[in-house]
Amino acid sequence: MELLQGLLERSSQPVLVAPGPDLAQIELAIRAALCAPDHRALQPWRYLVVHGEARVRLAALYAASQQALQPQRSAAEIERLRQQPLRAPTLIVAILRLREDAAVPAHEQWLSMGAAVQNLMLALHAQGYAAIWRTGALVSDAAVRAAFALADDERIAALVYVGSPPVPPRRAERPLPQPFWSVWS
Ligand SMILES: Cc1cc2nc3c(=O)[nH]c(=O)nc-3n(C[C@H](O)[C@H](O)[C@H](O)COP(=O)(O)O)c2cc1C
Repeated sequence: MELLQGLLERSSQPVLVAPGPDLAQIELAIRAALCAPDHRALQPWRYLVVHGEARVRLAALYAASQQALQPQRSAAEIERLRQQPLRAPTLIVAILRLREDAAVPAHEQWLSMGAAVQNLMLALHAQGYAAIWRTGALVSDAAVRAAFALADDERIAALVYVGSPPVPPRRAERPLPQPFWSVWS
């Protein structure tokens, strides 16, 4: 797939079906993520892949944690939360650990992380898979953080849900470029 064509046609897919990528395909996408612009090569990131039965365990511990947090929630609401990690065959968790560096402020490291996640999603798209970047309560849930063995200073920047696109896939409408740029003189 031509790089530009893939970039222009990619759309997030809220509905994702099996099959998801295999580990070699995921590793290739992570190689692409590691090509993101990274000021002073701080490499402030790591990735976790959650697939197969691990998703079910993640869903169970997330639902239990949310129930303990707000016991008044209805069974239907807890079930809706439990389903969240099961929305795709594979989840790729992008984790940022800000480095101390006088020349690279935190916002630049977040920007690098964002560029890395976009590279990851484009590389998955190039291999025929679809994805959506989500965050929400899952990324800050204490039990989820503990299960992923996150250090105190690590943040989940993205939960990338990955699978095959549905038929027909969602096609995002993109704005025309004209209002967004001009030539300065
Ligand atoms: C940092 C970040 C967090 C996001 N979190 C969510 C989320 O929790 N749930 C969601 O439905 N979309 C979320 N989105 C939006 C989707 O990833 C996606 O961009 C949006 O659905 C538009 O689709 P498109 O990529 O085809 O333009 C998030 C996007 C970003 C950049």
